[in-house]
Amino acid sequence: MGGRKPLIAGNWKMFGRRADLHEVSDTLKRAGAAGSAIDIVFCPPATLLREAAEAARAGGAQAGAQDVSPLGDGAHTGDLSAPMLTDAGAAYCIVGHSERRADHGETDAIVAAKAKAAAAAGLAPILCVGETLAERESGQALAVVERQLEASIPENAPHSLVIAYEPVWAIGTGRTPTAEDIAAMHRSIRGLLDARFGRHGAEMRVLYGGSVKPANAAEIFAVEHVDGALVGGASLKAADFAAIILAHPAAAR
Ligand code: 13P
Repeated sequence: MGGRKPLIAGNWKMFGRRADLHEVSDTLKRAGAAGSAIDIVFCPPATLLREAAEAARAGGAQAGAQDVSPLGDGAHTGDLSAPMLTDAGAAYCIVGHSERRADHGETDAIVAAKAKAAAAAGLAPILCVGETLAERESGQALAVVERQLEASIPENAPHSLVIAYEPVWAIGTGRTPTAEDIAAMHRSIRGLLDARFGRHGAEMRVLYGGSVKPANAAEIFAVEHVDGALVGGASLKAADFAAIILAHPAAAR
């Protein structure tokens, strides 16, 4: 994985109450020293961001938001600007998750604008891409993801940019691509980042996401060019999320 520090992020999606915040500190307690070798990030719903960020920081980890407005502060009811998220303690921000692309019609252009706004406020964007099952089965997966990356990574992206490869059909389904398919996709993404950003691109991390569980995490982390994971359901329970973190080879060092 070159000189890139592994990153394992938990996306809580639209789950979680204040009573669940102990999962953050519990995860970090269980992960122990692994937290110094691996960047651990919790992305709770915005209602819990400040408290999650405080709990994460106390345990040597960080917090991220799940979405951001592409616009600056202004008359946009219900939206949250990137500087607001920084102010609430976020260090990262997921952009372009397939659930937002599907539920809110987010296009690659919108995702690029969100990533740009996040980066301008000092947030590391975690930019999600991934093919549908129909696209995978028709042999289009690599081409689809290449197109998404070209159109949704903003110009002058910071080296803190993180790409999360999340096949839509693997999210919440218990299904994952084969190690060979993950390897082929990550090799392709790495090649695109290197070609577009050169040395700068070599610093950008590429995560796998989609049904990562304690039982399959070690196999996924062993795949070449996989710099970590974006974990959904399993990140809500400290025992599972910590087991995933501890399955990373860097945790044993
Ligand atoms: P699951 O891990 O629940 O499949 O979700 C993956 C995901 O969408 C993370 O962003």
